[in-house]
Amino acid sequence: MWIIIHPEVRLCRTVVFVLVEYTGLASSNALPATENTTLLEGKFRVPSLRNVAVTAPYMHNGVFNKLDTVIRFYDKHLTNSDNTINPETGVAWAAPEVADNISTAELQDGRKLTDNEIDALVCFLRSLTDEAYEALIPDDGLVCE
Ligand code: HEM
Repeated sequence: MWIIIHPEVRLCRTVVFVLVEYTGLASSNALPATENTTLLEGKFRVPSLRNVAVTAPYMHNGVFNKLDTVIRFYDKHLTNSDNTINPETGVAWAAPEVADNISTAELQDGRKLTDNEIDALVCFLRSLTDEAYEALIPDDGLVCE
């Protein structure tokens, strides 16, 4: 087990993931020894979204820098999605570390998001910011009213 000390918790989380081959809930020390962890690989707790606008990078491995990218990543699973390219890399989304447990059938159905709806969701996420941290919200030109 590696112990990394770093002031930025999310970067630390990313580093730990890389070094210990973290596989989500399957890696939890809280599981009984008898637990079959195969179905838990690649699954992660649903995080709190409070102050999420000022706590980039996102997801368990810090793979995305912008909330806009997280929303487009959710949308990309739809069969008719326009979001086939990761806007942060300019190429197709990278393969997941664990692909076996993704519920692709359920994720395919749904109405794809328009750019305006994606902006609205980012604004909603920004509205979850405590007043004390509002000055830290990145100024990327998006106007939320
Ligand atoms: C409009 C709906 C949703 C929005 C705007 C949203 C937004 C987000 C955001 C911003 C993150 C990144 C949080 C962070 O890294 O700190 C996130 C992660 C996550 N969300 Fe959602 N979410 C939505 C719906 C859902 C639903 C319906 C589920 C589960 C049924 C879900 C499960 C998760 C999980 C498990 C993660 C962590 C993924 C990881 O660590 O790799 N989300 N979500």
